[in-house]
Amino acid sequence: MTKIAIWCRHKDDNIIGIGPNIPWHIPSDFKRFRRITENASITCGQTTYESFPNRTLPNRKIYVLTFDENYEVSDKKNHFIVNDAKSLKDFEEPLYVCGGASIYKMFMQKMAPDVIVDSCFMGDINSSLEGIPVDISECIESMKKNYTKVSPDYEEDNVITTIWVKKGEFVSQEVLKHITMSIINN
Ligand SMILES: NC(=O)c1ccc[n+]([C@@H]2O[C@H](COP(=O)([O-])OP(=O)(O)OC[C@H]3O[C@@H](n4cnc5c(N)ncnc54)[C@H](OP(=O)(O)O)[C@@H]3O)[C@@H](O)[C@H]2O)c1
Repeated sequence: MTKIAIWCRHKDDNIIGIGPNIPWHIPSDFKRFRRITENASITCGQTTYESFPNRTLPNRKIYVLTFDENYEVSDKKNHFIVNDAKSLKDFEEPLYVCGGASIYKMFMQKMAPDVIVDSCFMGDINSSLEGIPVDISECIESMKKNYTKVSPDYEEDNVITTIWVKKGEFVSQEVLKHITMSIINN
């Protein structure tokens, strides 16, 4: 039951989105995300789910957080609605927490992930997008206080990725190895 938060934020301001969109387009970042999460279970908020092309991510089980009991997913075999986040507390398999901001914040406050995959985009964001900037600064403060960095800096296409583990927690070496190999084998 390892929980892993995985995000890509903008340097300094910790923005992860503007309106419903991610304000950069780095194909290698999407590929790294896919390598890490493929064939695994992920959870995300309804807004993020709606932003996936055709409301899906192939080869993943998606647990969509929504307060709407009648919400309809696009693939009833592989996608599941979750109205009560507490039910994810005792999730058996590794669970990747994939945003957006409200979900990262909720997990960091109430169900501290064991591992964080922290990617940081060092370039300029597309500020022409319409919408309110969404940032996860409070998650980054909590990460720096309560987690230990256990990896070197992996740089690719102006994105620096590091792995962090919750202080004092025993973390599955299998999960850490999988994440590391997925980052390295690009
Ligand atoms: N850069 C990255 O790594 C990254 C990753 C993911 C997302 N994003 C960005 O993040 C932004 C979206 O973030 P967001 O915070 O606005 O939306 P979000 O977290 O994706 O989704 C919010 C929705 O999730 C549901 N929800 C929230 N808390 C819940 C809880 N405790 N229990 C059950 N359901 C809950 C609610 O759905 P209902 O309204 O249906 O009840 C809520 O409206 C977008 O800009 C997206 O592109 C960036």
